[in-house]
Amino acid sequence: MSDIRKVGVLGGGLMGSGIAQVSAAAGFPTVVREVSEQLCAKSRQSIEKSLAKSVERGKTTEAEREAALKNLRFVTALDDLSDSDLFIEAVVEDLEVKNKVWAELNGIAKTEAIFASNTSSLTIIAMAAASGRPDRMLGLHFFNPVPAMKLVEVVRTITTSEETERRAFQFVQALGKEPIRAKDSSGFVVNLLLIPYMLDAINALESNVASVEDIDKGMQLGAGHPMGPFTLLDFVGLDTAYKISEIMFTEYRDKRYAPPPLLKRMVLAGMLGKKSGKGFYDYSVNPPRVSSLGL
Ligand SMILES: NC(=O)c1ccc[n+]([C@@H]2O[C@H](COP(=O)([O-])OP(=O)(O)OC[C@H]3O[C@@H](n4cnc5c(N)ncnc54)[C@H](O)[C@@H]3O)[C@@H](O)[C@H]2O)c1
Repeated sequence: MSDIRKVGVLGGGLMGSGIAQVSAAAGFPTVVREVSEQLCAKSRQSIEKSLAKSVERGKTTEAEREAALKNLRFVTALDDLSDSDLFIEAVVEDLEVKNKVWAELNGIAKTEAIFASNTSSLTIIAMAAASGRPDRMLGLHFFNPVPAMKLVEVVRTITTSEETERRAFQFVQALGKEPIRAKDSSGFVVNLLLIPYMLDAINALESNVASVEDIDKGMQLGAGHPMGPFTLLDFVGLDTAYKISEIMFTEYRDKRYAPPPLLKRMVLAGMLGKKSGKGFYDYSVNPPRVSSLGL
């Protein structure tokens, strides 16, 4: 049983909207804070669309959809979140912006409230000081798309209390998700293993081991992965993969995490994957075909 009653979500972008949706659907009154009315409306629309799709697919009933929407509020004023028991931060991946949010929140939040960051690549401890509550600060790392992905990494720092970790763990279970425990080291569990795997695929392509399609097919049919590494890279976003690998490389100084030159060239060329219409595959045609990379 979770002792969390109310949830505040900072940032209503891709991840924040998903997190707010699952929180509201699990019965938690949830307030989303965005920086403008327009972005509040955008977050609401994306949640409404996602819930409608879920009803269409028979995964959510009409009554559950309505109940979830009733649990949601979208605000621009931070003060409207002051009675939250748990704050989940999903603002842009920028330490300065995040720490500004934590410092402001610390001024209005209840003493016992937990602060959780959804960061993918920053260390949680780098935010603990600004939060003013290092024992009640941890990471809750959700995966995209949040409503569909079962896993949440519960990340403890060297200062997180056992009580905080336990409360966060129970909250994740109350969402119907599967929590795993991870230490506050760059990449946590999943990216620590996934990033070198995706980078290896690019290195294999540059070494002419096989084509994009054959490497994807190899890992799908030979290792049972639902999608190959290039399809996955296009889905994650090449800029995101590049940024995470750079941060991990800086942290570990290990060439396993070094972004290959081809990845950097593609980011510079604006080939960011699905979101830009072109990455390792060209999505302007149906079905997508392999992009020409001049290899
Ligand atoms: N995209 C992913 O696959 C993924 C997966 C796991 C974790 N994350 C992490 O989640 C976080 C958010 O990523 P995203 O992909 O949702 O980004 P996004 O750009 O879609 O959303 C970020 C939102 O934060 C808002 N914002 C900025 N400053 C704010 C503030 N002070 N208060 C409230 N809102 C503010 C922006 O207006 C924007 O809508 C990042 O830390 C990222 O590393 C992303």
